[in-house]
Amino acid sequence: MIDITVGDGAVVDSTAPALVVAVPSGEASLDRDAAAVDAALDGLISHLRTNGEVKGKPGETHVLHTMGRLPAARVVLIGVGDPAALTVTDLRRAAAAAARAVRKAGLSSFATSLYGGNLGGILAAQALVEGTVLGLYRFDAYRAADDIGTVGALTVLGGEVARVEAEEGVRRGREIAAGVTLARDLINEPPNVLTPTALGRRAQALAEEQGLDCEVLDRAAIGALGMNALLGVAEGSDEPPAFIVLRYGPEGAGSAPVGLVGKGITFDSGGISIKPAQDMHQMKGDMGGAAAVLGAMRAIAGLKPDIAVTALVPTTENLLGGRAQVPGDVVRALNGVTIEVINTDAEGRLILADALSYAVREGYAPLVDVATLTGAANVALGPFYSAVFANDDATAAEVLDAATEAGEKMWRMPLDPAYEDLIKSDVADIKNSAGRAGGSITAAMFLQHFVGETPWAHLDIAPTSWSDKDEGEQTKGGSGVAVRTLVALVEDLAAS
Ligand code: BES
Ligand code: MN
Ligand code: ZN
Repeated sequence: MIDITVGDGAVVDSTAPALVVAVPSGEASLDRDAAAVDAALDGLISHLRTNGEVKGKPGETHVLHTMGRLPAARVVLIGVGDPAALTVTDLRRAAAAAARAVRKAGLSSFATSLYGGNLGGILAAQALVEGTVLGLYRFDAYRAADDIGTVGALTVLGGEVARVEAEEGVRRGREIAAGVTLARDLINEPPNVLTPTALGRRAQALAEEQGLDCEVLDRAAIGALGMNALLGVAEGSDEPPAFIVLRYGPEGAGSAPVGLVGKGITFDSGGISIKPAQDMHQMKGDMGGAAAVLGAMRAIAGLKPDIAVTALVPTTENLLGGRAQVPGDVVRALNGVTIEVINTDAEGRLILADALSYAVREGYAPLVDVATLTGAANVALGPFYSAVFANDDATAAEVLDAATEAGEKMWRMPLDPAYEDLIKSDVADIKNSAGRAGGSITAAMFLQHFVGETPWAHLDIAPTSWSDKDEGEQTKGGSGVAVRTLVALVEDLAAS
């Protein structure tokens, strides 16, 4: 990860090869640091603004050569829009665009002055770091070296922000970005490498590195607990399933730990109800929910909120074979509810059924599950919003507030008994597939059978967990969505 430090002194004196300077749109005046750079460049920035070449639109970048007028060889202008309307989301996107412009210019480090408008120094510094780290993210573990270059260091100069605030925001941004980075890495990892067993090892490695407690239950332990819905999905695969329990904080002390449950299908072929070949490779990302909760645990371990949190990850492949589960099978989940497997491709809700039952039995509350659960969520919302379902208005509000703070778009969808009829089975208590209409809702209704009275929210991140292009702090591939929301939620719960 890029090395980010808070430095002293003015931007104009920095010897970094590039300076990133914020430029607002319209008539708004430059901040102190930008004005000093402008003066050193004999008014070049003002000139470009007056003649309309630099508009200061959010995310707009311009690379200027300083021709010896400053110690830095380049100045990168980054548009931040109307300062009165500046949001953390704008700043994060601007920081990502600026960092990518520095990389594109072939420079290995840069300095920037903190630009925060009315947002306050901590939030501004956090957004700057999140945008920089996530915007520069690449997954190149399996590629020969190329000439895209690496930006190795950023020096954050306080600008008009107090140093303690800058330090605090940088620290927070670094921890959160490390969590999102972990989630992206896990999603992008190929499915022959990131097997369920490997995911368990990654959780154990994370626990050792961050001082968390980790237990990985194997097939026998999963069977002994009665997690037959998880075992049913695992039957089609030679790779054994696992159930990961990762704990942060003073268990037992205070109230029940918060439970974060993540769908960990390391590859979803659909099973006997096989998927079409087109885009099937993207189903390596069907552990995006697991990645989100593990990424959140990474950040939580670094931020140390005063609240106990446990992540629960059921993980298996969903493949085909002579022993594979077939449509028509009936399985009994850990909580005793029987399920008719109509479609083996609706496997996420099966493994979550056992994980949620387990979480309820252990008393975790509130419960939040995160899953790349349904293509139907994508049909409903398109690629920008994750779907949120909750059995409790307060929990829904907490999740949506956290998403807003974190800058992740989420939209509440209905959980209504009216849909219950659609998942009734002729041979079992419920069935795992109800056809196309309201597909993300019937999936959530199914999950509700396993949470009892526990306050619970379900995040269907199928629309957002995978990004098709580099855009703002998003990069092509796994997005790491929901990490930031989960972290904000846990911090809010700790503070309340
Ligand atoms: N993992 C998929 C959902 C998915 C689809 C995630 C596209 C990301 C992108 C899930 O297991 C699945 O196959 N769901 C089925 C459910 C259906 C069989 C009831 C779906 O959405 O088609
Ligand atoms: Mn599936
Ligand atoms: Zn799936």
